[in-house]
Amino acid sequence: MNAMTKIASSGADTASNEVRFPIEQILTSATDQRGVIGFASPRFCEVSGFTSDELLGAPHKLVRHPDTPKGVFYLLWDHLKAGKPVCAYVKNKTKSGGYYWVLAVITHTENGYLSARIRPGSELFEATKAVYADLLKEEASGMTPEHSATLLTERLQEMGYDDIKSYGYSILNEEFKLRNIVDAEHVTSFALMDDLAGLVCDMQNLVNSIEQGFARVRGEPVNLRILAGRLEGAGAALGTISQNYDAMAKEMHGLVGRLHDPESGALRQMSDAVGHGRAALQMAQLLKQARSDATIDASMAAEGLRLLEDHNERLQQLSRTRLIEIASVGKSIPDICRSLRRRINGLDVVKLLCKVESGRMRDVDSGLDGIIARLENFHDNTDRHLAELSAKSSQITQKGASL
Ligand SMILES: Cc1cc2nc3c(=O)[nH]c(=O)nc-3n(C[C@H](O)[C@H](O)[C@H](O)COP(=O)(O)O)c2cc1C
Repeated sequence: MNAMTKIASSGADTASNEVRFPIEQILTSATDQRGVIGFASPRFCEVSGFTSDELLGAPHKLVRHPDTPKGVFYLLWDHLKAGKPVCAYVKNKTKSGGYYWVLAVITHTENGYLSARIRPGSELFEATKAVYADLLKEEASGMTPEHSATLLTERLQEMGYDDIKSYGYSILNEEFKLRNIVDAEHVTSFALMDDLAGLVCDMQNLVNSIEQGFARVRGEPVNLRILAGRLEGAGAALGTISQNYDAMAKEMHGLVGRLHDPESGALRQMSDAVGHGRAALQMAQLLKQARSDATIDASMAAEGLRLLEDHNERLQQLSRTRLIEIASVGKSIPDICRSLRRRINGLDVVKLLCKVESGRMRDVDSGLDGIIARLENFHDNTDRHLAELSAKSSQITQKGASL
């Protein structure tokens, strides 16, 4: 029975009809390295309206709808060529001129790519459609795909995502949550990944707080120097103290960068690994669902079934590898925290020297007491945040050991 429904389109595309397919259906296709279709599942043929013969050997842009901005495909290929999986909302056209929206999840196979598509319904989908509509207006004024991709990345950053990759993992996670397709054997793994993702997020917040602390006291060494200048000879010691504090705080800030550097920081590595690990297992579950649907649907060729099975296995393995990686990166964090906390002790000594100077200048209303109070606050908060950070990373290591 054909469970698809056609409904009148709303919005700009009034001339065509939307094809809505059931939420549990997965539309799969596979291509070579250039995007030429080598496999199309019966469900994909059914929804797109093209026969398997029409799709096989055709470039995938055969189903392209002009309402998907060019920037989306620019980023899609950019990521695929860099070896990264892609999750993106895409509007496709049907052979008869209708359309359907999908969340497309594209991963690498041995000699090309495999895409699993599901019907989107999350709030992030609605937000993304608004972003696409704006982007299409910009593209209409003659923008290159590359420029459109840059604009899209900026819009996603405004929505709070570091990059298209973390946005992709989030949209898959949101759409996945709308379905109830987790196998009993994976329930514990998904719970573990949710815990890990929560811990990594808490750690990111702690590092952000530490960063904000550094930003707040950045001007204090300058304030000390200004004070030293005002006090002339009496403030000479303060000038030296400020130089020491400045140098030590800068060195410490550099070390914090090992935690949160956007390219290579430990937290970025962990958040990438947990996002990718969870997405890989979610993709594996989608393929399993597609495979079991295909069993009912006898028209799926044995080769296609094998492709879905093999790929499911590979993704499960990939998910395990990425989770083990989180635990191993997590192990380095207590050491970094320890050496940062040692440096706070050093800063405390410099602050103590300030206090001595303050005592010597009892009669002068210098503003030094205010500076000391702010530094004290910064040291206490940073030390507390580092202790929490270290505890969270130990929890991650423990959880990782249960894999
Ligand atoms: C595995 C795979 C699946 C794809 N699926 C679609 C799809 O469903 N719809 C689509 O418009 N493009 C899809 N593409 C991207 C197309 O290859 C193509 O880049 C896109 O349609 C835009 O066409 P253009 O690059 O000629 O502008 C897919 C690519 C790959 C590798």
